[in-house]
Amino acid sequence: MEAIQSIEDMYQNMKSALKDVVPDVELRYKAELAVEINRLKKEKNAVILGHNYMEPALYFSIPDFKGDSLELSRQAAQTDNSIIVFCGVKFMAETAKIINPGKTVLLPSRKAGCSLAASITADDVRQLKAKFPGVPVVTYINTYADVKAESDICCTSGNAVAVVESLKSDTVIFIPDEYLAKNVARETGKHIIFPGTNPGSTYTDTSLDYQMIGWKGRCEVHEKFTVGDIEAVRKQFPDVVILAHPECSPEVTSASDFSGSTSAMIRYIEKTAASRYLLLTECDMGDNIAAANPDKEMLRLCSVRCPHMNQITLEDTLKSLQNNQYVIEVPEEIRVRAVKSIERMLAIG
Ligand code: 13P
Ligand code: SF4
Repeated sequence: MEAIQSIEDMYQNMKSALKDVVPDVELRYKAELAVEINRLKKEKNAVILGHNYMEPALYFSIPDFKGDSLELSRQAAQTDNSIIVFCGVKFMAETAKIINPGKTVLLPSRKAGCSLAASITADDVRQLKAKFPGVPVVTYINTYADVKAESDICCTSGNAVAVVESLKSDTVIFIPDEYLAKNVARETGKHIIFPGTNPGSTYTDTSLDYQMIGWKGRCEVHEKFTVGDIEAVRKQFPDVVILAHPECSPEVTSASDFSGSTSAMIRYIEKTAASRYLLLTECDMGDNIAAANPDKEMLRLCSVRCPHMNQITLEDTLKSLQNNQYVIEVPEEIRVRAVKSIERMLAIG
């Protein structure tokens, strides 16, 4: 069995990555928490999955696997451990549970939701399907299990275009992120409509020129970025390379140099030679990239922090392992329908 790192070694490792990001007094305390989490993790045969948005001290100390939603879903599908602790938000932990009904899946905070997942209900999807009979439903992974259960296939920001193209259908329902849908519509050359916003449309008229049917959900973090932000930063730093998550508006992604999932943005920065970057996404990811790439300067518009991802701390992750909390449950009749949409997505590659 692999030895548990000493507190001093953990502190030194964290310090070498995070000395410019986390104050020293905090680092020592966080190193102690991280060592105890790693000890308990082994004792309980748990695996920790950490989303790229986790705060730096957590991100650099306890996850066995880090990544975007797609990569973490794949890890969840492959793990042999009996407990999965998800350092991310509820829809991610729920996805892990849907794929692993026999395992215990823990989410360290009850408050780690998501504005996109909260923007649509299973009943909304049933109504859309009634309005557009036979049209396949592509559902962003940022949704809850009952919504996935009504869907044909899931997607993430990392594979949305490939998923839509895989359906070989003239028309798709794409829910619930308005901006991701518009970005995918642009990339796939499809025309998108939003039911309820097209006056006079009955939505059952198949002669209408629609190919994607969207929903007006928004990410409360990414909707805040504007083209004005980009112009102001480019004026001050003409050499800056700008990256935007596809949950940003299509105007913002068009005005950026690159748009992709959180891991795609990390890889892009790692392989690009420029010295200065602006990230239009959750702030802590900028700190994590800066820590891993000290030669690159990360500009951030840091009023923008995800209040849900922010709930996951080292303290609560320790309590999660100590007290087996908070256990994610998905009713079996919903799970068996939801898992099909996730497995179909994972099969796409
Ligand atoms: P990724 O799948 O790109 O990691 O995005 C998840 C998310 O919630 C972005 O806000
Ligand atoms: Fe949801 Fe946006 Fe937070 Fe991602 S950043 S978890 S989409 S609210």
